[in-house]
Amino acid sequence: MLRSRIVGTGFAVPERVVTNDDFAKIMDTTDEWIRTRTGIQQRHWVTEGETGADLALAASRKALEMAGIAPRELDAIVYATSTPDHYAPGNGVFLQRLLGVQPIPAMDIHQACSGFIYSLSVADAWIRVGLFRRILVVGAEVQSTAMDVSTKGRNTAVIFADGAGAVVLAPSEREDQGLLAVDLHSDGAHAEMLWVDVPGCMYHPRISKEHIDAGRHFLSMDGKEVFRHAVTRMPESVRAVLGRVGATPADLSLLLPHQANLRISEMVQRELGLRDDQVYNNIQQYGNTTAATIPILLDECVRSGRVKAGDLLVMTAFGAGFSWGSVACRW
Ligand code: COA
Repeated sequence: MLRSRIVGTGFAVPERVVTNDDFAKIMDTTDEWIRTRTGIQQRHWVTEGETGADLALAASRKALEMAGIAPRELDAIVYATSTPDHYAPGNGVFLQRLLGVQPIPAMDIHQACSGFIYSLSVADAWIRVGLFRRILVVGAEVQSTAMDVSTKGRNTAVIFADGAGAVVLAPSEREDQGLLAVDLHSDGAHAEMLWVDVPGCMYHPRISKEHIDAGRHFLSMDGKEVFRHAVTRMPESVRAVLGRVGATPADLSLLLPHQANLRISEMVQRELGLRDDQVYNNIQQYGNTTAATIPILLDECVRSGRVKAGDLLVMTAFGAGFSWGSVACRW
């Protein structure tokens, strides 16, 4: 059976660093509160003029370079983002234009924090059925422009951040190597617990001064409910995807959990009975970059040698929708 495998990884974040103390100067918060509740020490935010597509381009170039593949050799782009540069079209086409490639398909997946997992599953299926061979899969977000940086928005502004990660997926020559199994779920019952209300096509007009005055264009979140669901759903999904390949948490070389909050990752780790060396986190440096967290984690692990040939890896995510899922892969 044909499988897909990751042959290149890369990531990019904006140069601008925003520290916890920077927030303490503009809202009622402290470095101590942010570190103890979220684990975050700093994050990267874009400056005006810097776009999500720019970040995606920088990450993609690194992934393509590692893969030894020229942009013109790509067959398709799958771009996970919940924060496209414009309302329409999606960001995949802007990345395609920046890469200067032929009119290959470029598709956006609007699945927030689990967007990269969903995108991997789509690209994997395209490769398995023989439709495309070389696919660029990107997770990229600019969340900072949806943040209310007054005290009213302090439960989200300190968490969400900007960044991009990319992988190149290609057919695997070996059946025991590459993406092994996928587990995907969603539950719209909780859609309003983590969302951006406007602009919305149900409103006439889609965004008004009243909406903006009420702050309905900012990302809003019921943090406690998100936390409660995340710490249940991620371990459930990790066990499910491992079960599909006949493995248990003890067999895992490395878990790459979506970086929502360090306390969530620690609870997921405890729930699965994993040792510290079986889990990698980097939210301390980057905050929650939504669809970009997993490819950023992966690239750091690949480049530092933390992922080795033959390792069993699981990537798992939970976020807006709610939607969640996992991918198991043999490196
Ligand atoms: N600084 C200081 N105080 C803050 C704050 C901040 N940045 N953000 C919130 N608070 C305050 C709240 O206003 C509240 O004050 P009150 O008791 O006077 O009303 C208090 O801290 C406790 O708020 P609560 O929401 O109950 O805190 P919490 O312990 O649940 O932590 C989160 C808040 C957001 C850190 C936490 O709920 C969380 O991480 N949830 C998951 C978020 C997440 O992962 N989102 C991404 C999903 S993909």
